[in-house]
Formats: sequence, C-alpha cells, structure tokens
Amino acid sequence: MLRDKRIVLCITGGIAVYKAVELLRLLTKAGAEVHVIMTRSAQEFVAPLTFQTLSMNPVHSELFNLIAEQEIGHISLADRADLFIIAPATANVIGKIACGIADDMLTTTVMATKAPVLIAPAMNVNMYTNPIYRENQDKLLRLNYMFVPPEKGTLACGWEGEGKLATPEAIFEMAVSALTPKDLIGQTIMVTAGPTREEIDPVRFISNYSSGKMGYALARSAQRRGSRVILVSGPVSIAAPSGVELVQVESAQEMHAQVMARAAACSIVIKAAAVADYRPEERKEGKIKKQSDEMILRLVKNPDILADLGSLEHRPFLAGFAAETGGLKSNAAKKLKEKNLDMIVANDVSQADAGFNVDTNRAWLFFRDGRSVECPLMPKEELASLILDHIVAEFSAR
Ligand code: PMT
Repeated sequence: MLRDKRIVLCITGGIAVYKAVELLRLLTKAGAEVHVIMTRSAQEFVAPLTFQTLSMNPVHSELFNLIAEQEIGHISLADRADLFIIAPATANVIGKIACGIADDMLTTTVMATKAPVLIAPAMNVNMYTNPIYRENQDKLLRLNYMFVPPEKGTLACGWEGEGKLATPEAIFEMAVSALTPKDLIGQTIMVTAGPTREEIDPVRFISNYSSGKMGYALARSAQRRGSRVILVSGPVSIAAPSGVELVQVESAQEMHAQVMARAAACSIVIKAAAVADYRPEERKEGKIKKQSDEMILRLVKNPDILADLGSLEHRPFLAGFAAETGGLKSNAAKKLKEKNLDMIVANDVSQADAGFNVDTNRAWLFFRDGRSVECPLMPKEELASLILDHIVAEFSAR
C-alpha cells in the first residue's frame, strides 16, 4: 500500500512517544521506507535504538552530526520525502513551525521540505485549548498542514479532556489517505459487504463464512480516493472505516431494499457481499422443537440484487464478485453477461488463503469487452486498491 513511499517520522518529547513505535511498525509493514528524526526530549522517553531497529535506518537527531550529514543530510531527507509525519507533536514544536523557527534537526528539516506534513498533537488539555496554540494550529491549517485530532480521555498529567495522541491506526489511515491520489472526488460509491442471515426461527439462521474484510477494504480504499462511500453491510465483527456511511442489514431482502433505495444516488456500485441465494419459506415464531429423525426445511429464492441493479434503465457502473469453487472463468463470464455488469471480480473460494474469512485473496478481473487481468495472492487491502485502479480506469473511459 505504501510501497515506494518515503516517509520522515518526526518524534517530539512526550509520554505518547511509545505510540510512535507502533505507528512506525504499521508504516513499514505497509511497505514504506521510514526515516526517523527525534528531538532530544523524545529520546528521554524511548531510546533511538528502538526506532533504528524497526525502521532499519539511522535515527537523526543532531543537526551538526557530521557523519550523518555526509551520509544523508537534513536537506536530502526533506527533498526526498513523500510525506512528513510529526507524532507526537508538542505545543512547542507546533508553535515553532507556525512561527518559522528552525533551530534543531526536526524543525529545520520540516521547514526545508515541500512534502505534505501531517501533525498529530499530544499535550495537556489546557495547552490544547489555549488560544495561542489554537492560533498556531489555524495558521498551519491555512497553510495546508494536515492535523490528526487528539482524542479525549485521561491525560498523563491527570487532567481529563482532549489532548491524548490519536491512535497509531488513525494516524496511519490519514497518512495513507494523504498519499493516495484523489481520483474519485465527486463520486458516490456504494459497497456491499459481509454475509446475509436468513432466519429459520428466533435462534437459528442460514448464512455463510463472509467476514466482510474484502468489502470493507474496498470501502476504505474508495474513501481514501476522495469519494463519498455508502457501505451496506451484513452482520460482521469488524469496524467500519471512519467516515463511510454504514447501513447495517441482516437478510438478503433487507439488503435488496437498502441497495435499491440508494442506487440512483450512486455512480458506482461494488457488490462484494455474499448474499444468500435462498431463505426459509417461513420463519417460525417460536424455537423449532426437536421431533422426528428428519426435518425438511423449504427454501425460496431471494431477490438477486445485482441482477436487479443491472436491469435498471439508468444503472450505475457495476462491479460484481463471483465466488467460485470450480469453472472460475466460465462462471464469472456468465454472471457478468447475465447480470449486465461492467466488470466482475472472480475469486476461487476453495483455496485456504483466498476468499472467505482470510486476510488475503487472489482474483481474476473480467471486463465486458472480454479482457481479463490476473491478480496474484495479496492482502485484501492491496487487492481492493488494485480493483479500484481498474474501476477508475473503466469508469472514466465509459
Ligand atoms: O467477506 P470476506 O470474508 O472478506 O470474503 C470475501 C468474499 C469471498 C465474500 C468476496 O470476495 C466474494 O466473493 N463476494 C461475492 C460472494 C457471492 O455471493 O458470490 P456469488 O457468485 O454467489 O454472487 C455473484 C454476485 O451476485 C455477487 O456480487 C453477489 O453480491 C451478487 N448477489 C448474489 C446473490 C443475490 N441474491 N444477490 C446478489 O446481489
């Protein structure tokens, strides 16, 4: 996700320095090359060796360190960065940057960069609400510096309120978003995800193993690219990406109603949900009691949501999914044609490392004109981004 991206992580002194360790881990795991700059006071909380080991790069702290300057000088760090992150950022460093003070390695390098700068403040609540701090923050916002707002909670100083460093995950998400091209601004994308549940009685249902991971990754990826995202989701145990409009449903009929009601407002619909094809003909009011050795459950067909979208007079761009255990290409091609789709993502769900309830997937993308693209095994987050690259290309050529 962040492969080929060079990030400078600037760390200033505060109890939250330990959270920067986890942030660094998230950034490197996503493929970024990270260079760390620490102020002297940051080094009082966590030793530079921790950051050096995790980033596999020397930690910078002294402006006049001749060896470090010779190997990779502060101007070179500033020039080569795709993004600067300051986390945790003290009121002091934010004040210095806002006033153009460059008196150490960190502030000098930040001043010298043309890369976007993302600031994650952490401080006492009274400092955070101090009008002087506010003025500094407003000035930096006007100058296109980005901020990850701190959280509310019990602060290290004992006060309650805003000032707690945002979570490493929230800072990471904003960093990825800052580095993602905004090629879906102005679009509304609906993504469906997760399983449906078809109730048999008050305690039993028919469902499948969908975890929602594939659909939620698509929603997150679309959100990062600047689109408005509506996520229609069956019951899952993962959290929705922040900022998406979550519509929670249980059954296929509910999903059908919610999707069809919103279809006209959407330019693109991606159907990653694993919708039950059948539901019990009748839902019993009370729990079914154990009786004879056999029990026959009569099922009736659910509406095909994707086919109904495909038959709309003014239909959105449609990307369907095909979950197959055999005949992947022919079955996907049939679904693409019969449901009148623009493209279909076919995954072989018989593989242990792909399809339902795992973090990775491999897929084939098939298009209306017969073209196809093979996507090898990769994390669902990466596949989602790749699928969106193709959707953007197809949608803009439409
Ligand atoms: O959620 P995860 O654990 O991450 O797993 C991801 C996934 C395996 C669920 C996902 O990658 C996937 O394959 N989703 C589609 C599952 C499915 O229902 O496939 P299908 O071949 O049965 O259906 C074809 C298409 O029609 C799908 O886009 C489906 O959403 C849609 N459909 C199906 C039936 C129905 N009644 N209405 C529909 O809209």
